[in-house]
This record gives sequence, C-alpha cells and structure tokens, in this order.
Amino acid sequence: MSDWAAVILAAGKGTRMKSKLPKALHPLCGRPMVRHVERAVREAGIERVVVVVGVGGGRLRAALGPGVETVEQDKPLGTGHAVAQAADLLAAGPSNVLVANGDAPLVTPRTLAALMAAHARDTAPLTFLTARLPNAAGFGRVARNDAGAVRTIVEEPERPGEAGAADEVNAGVYCFDAAWLSTHVGEIEPSATGERYITSLAATAAGQGTPPVTVECADPSEAIGVDTRSRLAEAEAALRERIREYWMAEGVTLSNPATIHIDADAVIGRDTVIHANSYVLGKSEIGEDCEIGPGSIVSGSHIGDGCAVVASVIEQGSRLEAGVRVGPYSHVRGGSEIGRGVHLGNFVEVNRSVLGPGTRSHHFSYIGDGLFGADVNVGAGTITCNFDGVDKHPTVVEDGAQLGSDSMLVAPVYVGARAKTGAGTVVTTDLPADSLTVGVPGRVLRRDNSTGPKGKESKATDIARRRKARGDGAEKG
Ligand code: UD1
Repeated sequence: MSDWAAVILAAGKGTRMKSKLPKALHPLCGRPMVRHVERAVREAGIERVVVVVGVGGGRLRAALGPGVETVEQDKPLGTGHAVAQAADLLAAGPSNVLVANGDAPLVTPRTLAALMAAHARDTAPLTFLTARLPNAAGFGRVARNDAGAVRTIVEEPERPGEAGAADEVNAGVYCFDAAWLSTHVGEIEPSATGERYITSLAATAAGQGTPPVTVECADPSEAIGVDTRSRLAEAEAALRERIREYWMAEGVTLSNPATIHIDADAVIGRDTVIHANSYVLGKSEIGEDCEIGPGSIVSGSHIGDGCAVVASVIEQGSRLEAGVRVGPYSHVRGGSEIGRGVHLGNFVEVNRSVLGPGTRSHHFSYIGDGLFGADVNVGAGTITCNFDGVDKHPTVVEDGAQLGSDSMLVAPVYVGARAKTGAGTVVTTDLPADSLTVGVPGRVLRRDNSTGPKGKESKATDIARRRKARGDGAEKG
C-alpha cells in the first residue's frame, strides 16, 4: 500500500529487562521481538517500514529484514520524541502512517489491517488499538467522555494508585493522518516525567473536535507489551499457544500440546505427530508423516517425510532425507546429511558427516567428519577417532562396508567398498575394497609429539579435500 508507511519504535532503553541485549532483540519463539512487529506490518500490506533505533543501534539494524530503513533517536526522550525522529524521512511520503511499539510482538496482520481500514473509513486524524485487560498496570488507560468519545490516554505515572485495575488500555499501535502527525509531533510537551508521550496526541485530536477512533483487539493477548522478563514469558506463552493452534489446524497432531514448543519460523508437514516435551526450533522444516519425540529437539534442521526422531537431538543445519529413524538418545549435528532410510539407533552421535542411503548404526557410535557411503553397517561401539588433539581428520567408508563391533577408525583413513572389519579392529591404514581385516592392520602409529595421524597418508584426506572444494559434504558446518 503506497499511501501507507510504518514507523516501529525500538529505541527505548528497556531498563526493566535488566539485560545487555536491546529489548527489541529479545527473542520470542526464536525470532527477535522487533521482527515480529516488522513481519506483521509487512503482512498487513505496508511496504515502507522505518525503525527508530537507539544510539549505536548496529545490532538492531543487523537483525532487521531487507529494505527496512532506520533512523536514530540519540536520547530516549519518550515515544513522541521517537516518532518525531522519523518525521523528516516521511515528509514527502505517504498520506497515512502506522506507528507501532517495537515491544508489541503479538499484534497480528489481521488486526493491523482492521485498524488501517477503520482509519481509512473515518476522518479522525488518529485511530488506535485498544484492549480490555484485567490488569492495566504498565499501560496507558483510555479515558472517554460521557458520550463515549476518547478524551485522552492517561499514562501510569499520571494516575498514581489506580494502576492495577481492570480497564480499557492503549495497545501501542496507532494510525495517523501523515500531514496531521507532522504538524503536531513537534508540539508534544514533556510530561511530568520529562518524557514526550506519543499518547498525548489523543488529547490533541480530541481538543480539535475530532476525537480518535479506536479498534479493540479481539484477542487481548495481542496487546501484551514486553517491558519485563515476566511480560516476555507471558508473551511467549501466548505466542506458543497460537503457533500450536495454527499447526494443529494445518493437520499436525500434537500430543500433550502444552509441553511442545514450536518456533515462529518452523514449518511442519501434514500427518506428522509431535509427542510431548519436544522442541522444534529456528527455521526447522519437518516433512509429512513424521514422528517427533517424545523428548526430541529439532533445531534449524530439515527432516524429510516419514522420519522418526525419538528422544533425540537434530541440530545445526543437519538434514535427514525421507524415512530416516533416529533414537532414542542420539545426536545429529554440524550440518550432517543423513541419507534416505538411514537408521541411527540409541546413543549414536553424528557430527559434520554424510551418511549414504540405507546405512545403519544401531548402537553406541560416534561418526565425526565421516563420509560414509550407502548400506554401510556400523557395528555397536564403532567410532571414528577423528581428532588427534590438534586437528580433525576425515574418515571415508565406501558402499556396503561392514564395520565390526568396536572398530576404531583412526582418521584420516579410508575403508573400501564392501570391506569388512572384525570386532575390535583398530584401523590405522587404508583398507582395500572387499578386504577382511581383523585386529590391527598394517603398522601401528606411535603417538608421540612428533608423529601421529597428522602425517598419515590416506585416500580419505584426498576425497574429503575434493568434497570440500566442491562446497559440500562432511567438511560443512
Ligand atoms: C506505551 C504507551 C502506553 C501503552 C503501552 C502499550 C506511551 C507514552 N505509552 O507505554 O500508553 O499502553 O505502550 O504497551 O507511549 N521507545 C522509543 N524511544 C523512547 C521511548 C520508547 O523508541 O524514547 C520505544 C520502546 O523501545 C518501545 C516503545 O517505544 O518499543 C514503547 O515504549 P515504552 O517506554 O515501553 O512504553 P510503555 O511504557 O510500554
């Protein structure tokens, strides 16, 4: 909508959060608070978005979406003063301006659109969002005359002793006629606390005989303004509930929903079941027909269709292709790529590795910096010894290899296709295809300060280096 611009106020000190992090950057369901407001404004159809940041607002700027403009407020002298900083930027711009508090992360695009529509219908220069709350502490209270028209907004410091009562409050989102705003924003007088309140413009409009129009939030939780950790927890609880309801409506089963956390940027396919005490975090994508949990964490990772992740952690940009089973008690990390139909049983850790389709590791394994082909069988207790105390080294295992229980693969090392190792084999040299190795093959390396796997020649190093040059595979993450 080109006749609209939005200004998001995010330059306040957030003193009551008692935090080193600017308030607007505190995450809510995995996304910084201010980005929730920014997204809602954009989804309501406003293209031009200006965020008012505080001095040195570099971290805030870096967190904003593409195309968002910023303007600096050198001292946090109040919400009225903050809007004034954007006045010049908007001077030759749109005919309407939506102003939103950057700490009101629960307001929805639908509510913003309703507010904008009400503003467009009426001739009043100001339309703002209200809510009826059981406790108005911390909010500005809406005061009306006998005819029901808004007279003013009374801020908490201006009404000592009556802060906690149930009341109609200002939700901190306003639509202004742009020309009217630019005429009056510079005239806002400091309040008794010395701050210039944007809310005093309600009384200005009423005094001109054009009282502000209000739109009440259908869901009062949309009005939650986060100024303390306690409010942050309240907002997060409300948003989590909203996200859970959304995914259930989209065909996802949540068993014991109250115990399940799904972040705002996660995506989940139909007929997936998420069991109790599971977390789906960051920009995770879960396919259709999956079983996640109980007690699983999927963070910033991709889970293909028909996977099961039981009491396990999949994180750091890892990727499971369709039909993978993990758990219980396993851990996939470091951007690992797990091929179609792989089974990782209990107590298996896979780090910075690629496993080809159909590979199995059922019990107690560590695969780090591994490039494993298809249909490899990893016996119980088998590990890659990938770290020599200084550097990490690759292990390459070709298709169809069978690694006997407790095999130690001392990297860098290469195991050829269909090669077999007996139980307890310590593999320190490359093994040819179709070979059978038992015990400790080849030379045993002396592990002192001067010699060690670092100097060891292995086809694995070569293969891993080539994959790295291509920009994929086990060296990722
Ligand atoms: C504000 C409203 C109050 C409303 C409530 C809803 C005012 C004076 N009061 O109170 O009526 O009920 O929101 O949550 O506006 N900010 C700046 N620069 C400043 C001061 C604040 O950018 O100098 C930003 C903050 O970062 C924050 C927003 O403005 O995102 C609101 O500021 P805050 O001081 O928290 O206002 P509230 O006390 O919540």
